[in-house]
Amino acid sequence: MPSNRRSPPQPQPQPGDIELEFGVPIPGRILPPEQWAKTALKKVPSGLLYWEALFGRRAPVVIDIGCGNGRSTLASAVARPEVDHLGIEILPVVIRYATRRANQRGLSNIRFAVIGGREFLSEHVAAGSVAEIHIYHPQPFYDPAQIHRRLITPEFLSLAHRSLTPGGKLLLQTDHPSYWAYIQSVVPCFFDLRALSGPWSDSPRGRTRREIIARHHGLPIFRGEAIRRYEISVDEALRLANSLPPPTFNADRRLRQLDEIEARS
Ligand SMILES: C[S@@+](CC[C@H](N)C(=O)[O-])C[C@H]1O[C@@H](n2cnc3c(N)ncnc32)[C@H](O)[C@@H]1O
Repeated sequence: MPSNRRSPPQPQPQPGDIELEFGVPIPGRILPPEQWAKTALKKVPSGLLYWEALFGRRAPVVIDIGCGNGRSTLASAVARPEVDHLGIEILPVVIRYATRRANQRGLSNIRFAVIGGREFLSEHVAAGSVAEIHIYHPQPFYDPAQIHRRLITPEFLSLAHRSLTPGGKLLLQTDHPSYWAYIQSVVPCFFDLRALSGPWSDSPRGRTRREIIARHHGLPIFRGEAIRRYEISVDEALRLANSLPPPTFNADRRLRQLDEIEARS
């Protein structure tokens, strides 16, 4: 039964602080308030988004889909100031953490918005305009009634293929073996997929909150870098998407426990 007692107020991070999550530093340092940025894209305008107008410059763009609390988006934005970043999420409550942290770090090369990944790519992203799409730990959705919500589908992959620049890449990571098996079966139809092994050299304890938790529980992490196959046209990719199987794999319910830990901690 939930307790009515309030938890003691947490100390607010101060300028110069390094924040920790599960003992792992969150990239960047908190700046004095007068140097904070505004990184929330409160409402995605209808139609195509113009990156130059959004960021005020012309630069390669990275989209982090299902960015959760934004740890991976922040890390990339801090490490690559010459690249612009957009983190998107369907859950407003987690995107608030992401936005607050990016604001407090004064990052001008990052925005966060609440919107679904499929909708975003199909309605707001111009063809050939994105350098990288990152997807870390898409939800496997265990309940059969929710399976249709799985993000990585052939249609989604055709949208990612269309959105990327020539040579653009899709980064995929999961701790779910069946999701990874599905990814390996469909992604090569649109991309040249290369599986990557070992921890990230830039974040050995995990690039994302979910990766940190999964590593802590000894789960294997599966990841791959997929380069857009340019010989496949946008129309061909769409036709392909209609012929490939949807992600109806049977999710291993034992992994559900980790989702509960992730939501609680
Ligand atoms: C398991 S969490 C992983 C979060 C983060 N990437 C990480 O690795 O810590 C999956 C996230 O994807 C978000 N999500 C689920 N479906 C989505 C969709 N269609 N578009 C965007 N985000 C989605 C969920 O709200 C959740 O925060």
